[in-house]
Amino acid sequence: MNRRQFLQLGALACAPRVHAAVPTRKLSLGSARQSIVGAGHPDTLVWAYNGTVPGPELRFKQGERLRIEVENALPVQTTVHWHGIRLPNAMDGVPGVTQEPIDKGGRFLYEFDLPDAGTFWYHPHLGSPEQVARGLYGALIVEERNAPPVDRDLVWVLSDWRLDREARLVENFGNPMDGSHAGRIGNTVTVNGAIREFFDVRSGERIRLRLINASNARIYGLEFEGHRPAVLALDGHPAEPDSPARIVLGPGQRADVILDCKANPGSTHRIIDSFYRRRAYELLKLRYAAQPPLRTSFEPVPRLAANPIAVPDLAKAERHRVAFGGGAMRAVPNQRQHKGLFWSVNGRPVPEHAHHEVLLNLKRGASYVLELVNDTAWHHPIHLHGHVFRALPNGTWADSVLLNPDERAEIAFVADNPGDWMLHCHVLEHQATGMMALVRVA
Ligand code: C2O
Ligand code: CU
Repeated sequence: MNRRQFLQLGALACAPRVHAAVPTRKLSLGSARQSIVGAGHPDTLVWAYNGTVPGPELRFKQGERLRIEVENALPVQTTVHWHGIRLPNAMDGVPGVTQEPIDKGGRFLYEFDLPDAGTFWYHPHLGSPEQVARGLYGALIVEERNAPPVDRDLVWVLSDWRLDREARLVENFGNPMDGSHAGRIGNTVTVNGAIREFFDVRSGERIRLRLINASNARIYGLEFEGHRPAVLALDGHPAEPDSPARIVLGPGQRADVILDCKANPGSTHRIIDSFYRRRAYELLKLRYAAQPPLRTSFEPVPRLAANPIAVPDLAKAERHRVAFGGGAMRAVPNQRQHKGLFWSVNGRPVPEHAHHEVLLNLKRGASYVLELVNDTAWHHPIHLHGHVFRALPNGTWADSVLLNPDERAEIAFVADNPGDWMLHCHVLEHQATGMMALVRVA
């Protein structure tokens, strides 16, 4: 390259971003067959992005621009929501609010910058109880500019399926029993789209494991026998270094952990999901290769650089109370008036995507504290679009908070992203039966 060419390239790099240079990737939705249960069992007919469940693992670097053309070859309308990404409202994938649904045979171009590093994911925001249960979800990884060194950086998309004996999906999506109780909890749990018996590791390895709960309703509580993975990030954002005995993930939530493989070559160790205590089961086993250890001492667990998030001013923050009600064993909304709606937000049940009524009007740039109150007998992972918040008093940044029955939480954030944003429960059967509201930032 001569000096003139070099200068021209330099000028280009400093000029406003040239979007034409961003490569376009494709996501095509269609049906596919996949071996979920494994050899000796029939394949399962699923809905998939690019033919696989989970969909392709999309990887970008922090600050890059995502440009994805979605092609819908399903027999139903859909949208794609980029869970946890702080993006322009028009790219948020909420039908009837930020875009028209993508018709069957239709296309939609999503294009936006990725301001935050972290583990995110994508899924439909239309007919979610069915579309997600059929297999529509995938990981969206935004790598740090200086990612901490690890031997392997891996994603585990956790999901569950309700299958019959022939490994077919039980198609009772959105039934009132699931809707008014804990949601559609499956009978088959998979890691990256298949039941797995082993996960192979080598002694001395350091693995960054990105856990994504893509289940409609199941909550995970993972215990690693003989290991104490250190939590590096929650919902993509850096966490205080901690090694809890159990890693709890509600639907939609993510955790990045550092798994240092300190056990002996040739050993095996179970990973147990014990969230529902009497129904604990083995997710899979870590299986150590016989090879000698890669290393015998480990660097301290790294800390990730913070994402560029505005810090709320708690002294000046305006406060609002948001109460979640309804569900079995409590006051379910009147079924004559609100047929099929079992939940409410501040007393109002809102059907899926008929949420034109604004629950909260927030001033752009102002700080807010929302008191989220769970007035029900069930768990609810409450998720806010377009923003990240901090649970008070000392939570780290996140886009969701898991409320236990009758629990409350305060979340604080700066309403700095203009538009209409959803605030909802990520148990998809709850979201579709009343537990969804709209927050306007203007
Ligand atoms: Cu994971 Cu409203 O979304
Ligand atoms: Cu819920």
